[in-house]
Amino acid sequence: VLDVVLVVVIGYLLGNIATSYFLGKIFENKDIRNYGSGNAGATNALRVFGVKIAATTFICDALKGVLAVLIGRWILGDNGELIAGLFVIIGHNWPIFLKFKGGKGIASTIGVMLTVNYIVALITILIGLIIVIKTKYVSLGSVTAMALLPIIGVLVVRPFELKLFLFTLVLSIMAIYRHKSNIKRLLNGTENKIGQKA
Ligand code: G3P
Repeated sequence: VLDVVLVVVIGYLLGNIATSYFLGKIFENKDIRNYGSGNAGATNALRVFGVKIAATTFICDALKGVLAVLIGRWILGDNGELIAGLFVIIGHNWPIFLKFKGGKGIASTIGVMLTVNYIVALITILIGLIIVIKTKYVSLGSVTAMALLPIIGVLVVRPFELKLFLFTLVLSIMAIYRHKSNIKRLLNGTENKIGQKA
């Protein structure tokens, strides 16, 4: 039990390291959450701060997902991977140190899924990327890819793994929920395209 608590806490705290927030504060003296979409993530960092901070944000947010899963695996084995993976994303989306106002968890999910099952991850990322490139809507690529993630898992992972399916389903639901405002904007045609300044 203590091991599980440890994995949950480590995952959650790693998630709290909101790269876009800290880089924005350090280099631009701005709280990213007051600009653009208000989201503490790589997409909004691109909009508000430019390519360098956005790329660093994406890499660091993904790396904390990788790190959490590796630590979880090390402490608890297979179950630890999934517990740490879940909580690093929860920590990123709802960080206690930033009054529960964080990001949408896509970069962290990419890091987590690449470490848990890189084949499922790469297929899902590829589909998301194609949608982003074709439509210029990062959110549409994120939402579609995250909606497909559990299905891709079922199609690719043989024999069927219930734990992995439930895990990807929860990640999918969380991500879609976090993109509520984006989905509204996509539906009424007011979503920002990539490259559009805040
Ligand atoms: O990963 C977040 C992305 O899908 C949308 O970000 O800033 O446009 O809400 P944003």
